[in-house]
Amino acid sequence: MNQDVSSQIQALLKQQIESWGQAGLTHISRSEEIFEDKIPVQEEITSREETKTEVTKTFVPGHSVPDQPSLTTSSESEPNMKKPAKRLEPRTTKNRDSLKKRKEELELLRKKVARCKRCKELASTRTQTVFGVGDPNASIMFIGEAPGADEDKQGEPFVGRAGKLLTQIIEACKITREEIYICNILRCRPPGNRNPSPEEADSCREFLDGQISIVDPDYIVCWGSVAAKNLLDETLPIGKLRGEFHEYGRAKVLCTYHPSYLLRNPPAKKDVWKDMKFLFKDMGIKLK
Ligand code: URA
Repeated sequence: MNQDVSSQIQALLKQQIESWGQAGLTHISRSEEIFEDKIPVQEEITSREETKTEVTKTFVPGHSVPDQPSLTTSSESEPNMKKPAKRLEPRTTKNRDSLKKRKEELELLRKKVARCKRCKELASTRTQTVFGVGDPNASIMFIGEAPGADEDKQGEPFVGRAGKLLTQIIEACKITREEIYICNILRCRPPGNRNPSPEEADSCREFLDGQISIVDPDYIVCWGSVAAKNLLDETLPIGKLRGEFHEYGRAKVLCTYHPSYLLRNPPAKKDVWKDMKFLFKDMGIKLK
């Protein structure tokens, strides 16, 4: 290459790198990074899952209605930094009318949950109920265990330390929290960060099933063995439930390790990444 052209290219590259630096970009991350134990250690332990000591018990992008593309990725606001996710065809059964209906039905159910006093202890100790968030038309639903302290305070599932890791996993899959639906086995925080009792899980089941039936996802991911065992009525350990699809109604169910387990056992992140690849492959999306 001619010397002049080569130095012009170098100057342009330098300029580009400097402008990224000015915009606050310190490095360009790869999806795998979160699975390579690069999660910063956080000093404060506030949410229930972080205080547990026992070993874990275990996108599709929201189907946007035609001409309302909800399957945007953060990469679209940061051109040239991340590869955009492949868009999936919207499911024909999920159209604009059904989105409105699903929103209304979820709102009715949310109000019912907010009044619930079935579990006396939980109703008297909670700050608020934690219903669920995300796209009412999502084709992926994530189910966790129960709200922790942060979720109880903020009224949203997975917002604590484990939730931040979950968000990183979601983003590594080139999707956003808004494109999936996230809820838990329980809608109230069990005091002292204890596991949900079978009675509590039973009492809350009507609400979980209501959310599943309204959102009607193609895929459900059970994060942790409490979610997997309760949803599927399984007794096998989470390690044995991974690696294949189970069924719940018409949804394919994938079980994987809970993010709080990953915080305690970072090497297990590579297994979760494997599970995410398995899930997305089934949806026709190759994760790198
Ligand atoms: N852990 C869960 O299982 N659910 C939450 O909402 C938060 C932490």
